[in-house]
Amino acid sequence: MSALDVARIQADFPILKRQVHGKRLVYLDSASSSEKPIQVLDAMDRIYRESYANVHRGVYTIAEESTATYEGARAKMARLLGAGSPNEIVFTKNVTEAINLVAYSWARTNLREGDAVVVTEMEHHANIVPWQILAAERGVELRWIPLGNDYLLDLTSLDELLDGAKLLAVTAASNVLGTLNDIRPLADAAHAAGALVLVDAAQAVPHMPVDVAAWDADFVGFTGHKMLGPSGIGGLWARPELLDAMPPFLGGGGMIRDVTKAGFLPDDVPWKFEAGTPPIAEAAGLSAAIDYLEGIGLDAVRAHERALTAYALAALRDRFDDRLTIYGPDDLDARGGTVSFLFGDIHAHDISQVVDEEGVCVRPGHHCAKPLMRVLGVPATTRASFYVYNDEADVDVLVRALARAEQFFGI
Ligand SMILES: Cc1ncc(COP(=O)(O)O)c(C=O)c1O
Repeated sequence: MSALDVARIQADFPILKRQVHGKRLVYLDSASSSEKPIQVLDAMDRIYRESYANVHRGVYTIAEESTATYEGARAKMARLLGAGSPNEIVFTKNVTEAINLVAYSWARTNLREGDAVVVTEMEHHANIVPWQILAAERGVELRWIPLGNDYLLDLTSLDELLDGAKLLAVTAASNVLGTLNDIRPLADAAHAAGALVLVDAAQAVPHMPVDVAAWDADFVGFTGHKMLGPSGIGGLWARPELLDAMPPFLGGGGMIRDVTKAGFLPDDVPWKFEAGTPPIAEAAGLSAAIDYLEGIGLDAVRAHERALTAYALAALRDRFDDRLTIYGPDDLDARGGTVSFLFGDIHAHDISQVVDEEGVCVRPGHHCAKPLMRVLGVPATTRASFYVYNDEADVDVLVRALARAEQFFGI
């Protein structure tokens, strides 16, 4: 029995009513981007129809309404993450930009040649490439926490890796393996070594309760489109003293207190990091997405996905045995609802195409984690990922579609 009333939730997602190839749409690609409930669509439509205006500029009624919606989204996001104040949230266009903000503003101010940044082998490119750019530019060393055989981080050499490091940049949940990393002990070890901790929470915030204080993190990035919100908005939470000390990243309108020919004075945090017209309707959508998730309860979201993942792992193993290899932890407490696999020697793209004919959306490829693919020794996997609108019937359709692929390719 699921912790959620999935049928009721499904009814809120217009896209789930459509068919592809004459079949019910079974969307199993939420790790890439989630679908959106009518409440989010309505909130965005409403702001454009009723109170759209630029924010932080006009003093007329609808401009003030627009600003209140935008700042209200910040306050909701702060509450969702357990932040001390709304001003600890900087809106960006996605988590990639949030991590780049830290890399350009904080890291370029504080890191010198010979300093080290520690990442892990299971990071998304968003939490690798910004550090590689920095490493190439500044002579900063990049160190890697390896993946263990159990698909968890191998922390045997953690203290050595952190020795002399300035930053540990780690994902809370792998978008390929589903692995959930236990952030608090990692943060404790990093702090003991004098390093700060950046958490890529792109795959955590949508799926479970997150508390930046309980993590004792320094920077946490999130992205709206994976948490039922629209694309075009994400953000960074950071400790206020860090944000205060960081220089602006992008310059322009909206981020200044004064500008003369001689120079500029930046605005206060967080606006000093939000140059240009921000994602206004997107903030309204994100706000509605947070309401929707809180209405369900993030504990219930996690419990639902844990149960559905247990069902999926058992169903896949039962039906396909060792013809199907799953890349991810067996321990349900250490994994989320992302299931990556290889099926015989069929290429992941071929699998995806065949199951699409049954209406099933799964993602083939390297999932923007090429260093991890190299560690796993595979060019690509097929990934099914679950969210609040998926149920056991969806898993059953996936299993039947894979059985059809098996027949088709004659494994
Ligand atoms: C763990 C992780 N980090 C970062 C990203 C990048 O997200 P965005 O494209 O929204 O910046 C993703 C998206 O797949 C992800 O799964």
